[in-house]
Amino acid sequence: MSLPDAALHAAAQTYGTPLYVYDAAELDAALARVRAAFGNARVHYAMKANPNLTLLRRLQAAGVGFECVSTGELARAAHIGARGEHVLVNGPAKTEAEYRLGGELGATFILDREEEVGLLPPAARVLVRVNPALKVSTHDHLATGSASSKFGVTPDQTPRILAALRGAGHTALGLHVHIGSAIRNAGDFTAAFARLRDLRAHTGPLAVLDAGGGWSLDADLHGIAREAHAAAAAYGAQLWVEPGRYLVAGAGTLLTRVVGTKVTGRPFALVDAGMTELLRPMLYSAQHPVRPLWERPGVGPWDLAGPACESGDILARNVPLPAPQSGDLLAIGEAGAYGAAMSSTYLTRARPAEVLYAAGEWTVIRRRETPQAIWALEEAE
Ligand SMILES: Cc1ncc(COP(=O)(O)O)c(C=O)c1O
Repeated sequence: MSLPDAALHAAAQTYGTPLYVYDAAELDAALARVRAAFGNARVHYAMKANPNLTLLRRLQAAGVGFECVSTGELARAAHIGARGEHVLVNGPAKTEAEYRLGGELGATFILDREEEVGLLPPAARVLVRVNPALKVSTHDHLATGSASSKFGVTPDQTPRILAALRGAGHTALGLHVHIGSAIRNAGDFTAAFARLRDLRAHTGPLAVLDAGGGWSLDADLHGIAREAHAAAAAYGAQLWVEPGRYLVAGAGTLLTRVVGTKVTGRPFALVDAGMTELLRPMLYSAQHPVRPLWERPGVGPWDLAGPACESGDILARNVPLPAPQSGDLLAIGEAGAYGAAMSSTYLTRARPAEVLYAAGEWTVIRRRETPQAIWALEEAE
């Protein structure tokens, strides 16, 4: 992320910490890279990565649609006026409300199990999610295209489901595959798309092939795009893609201040953000780049520990820091995806404010939560 340190210091000073900051220029640049690699493929942003309305509207203005996996996400899409071809309804256990809302929005549904044929709204447009049963090189919790994962239908079931959809009066638009998140090995995508191509002989031509998302920030997008387009071409299909992380991760930084230090079994820098603000290190052993925004002699390795009463509340280990002191400011990078989105109010910790930097100005795009807002629903009406 390219925001100047002075702007980060100013934001922390004005809005307090912990604070999520986003760089609009980097969001735009990520989308431009996707478009440069994937050409005319239709882009649906997986809003689970970061559902902030301002970010959604910015992507919407650039012609991007949305993949939604809950009633709340569909409500966000409806709230910003996304409809029809701009909305995908996904999820392994969709509720009645989601079928209804998706139907009202004229969305396309991603079918995740055979029973859904009888649950979809009348004359739905449908993609069938195929689980290619691959070994995917990412954290187990992030792999969605392995045989043991709960997602999608088997390649064997797919032709029968396409026929059942048509028999039930739906439009079987095509196939969908998404093998997981933060995938660094391009070969995983190649293998997944090859499995889809193998299915072509059993399905006939189809209108759409949705190649999902899952790209790490350093992924070879052009390589992935080449394989995805080749698979789509085998079906005579239009290519759709569904990135989440790639579009927003690099645009976001979590700012946190050092509260104090202590050296026991390890040297700890205690900071005012932790698992409640950024769960990924604890949930997926994710490693985020950490940058101290001060200079002082005496650089040494420090573990960055959050304030929660949980031993796992460690944001990073062995971070080189120059003699941290109370009040020092740290920038935790690549935090725009699954950062604020996964933040929680555990310990009645109010979720951080979120601010966007665009054209040299900061705008608050989510106000800091208050403890009162957290307990409000617990009081009698
Ligand atoms: C079906 C589907 N599509 C797209 C995504 C976005 O993945 P990523 O953020 O890794 O690009 C996800 C994430 O879990 C997903 O489940």
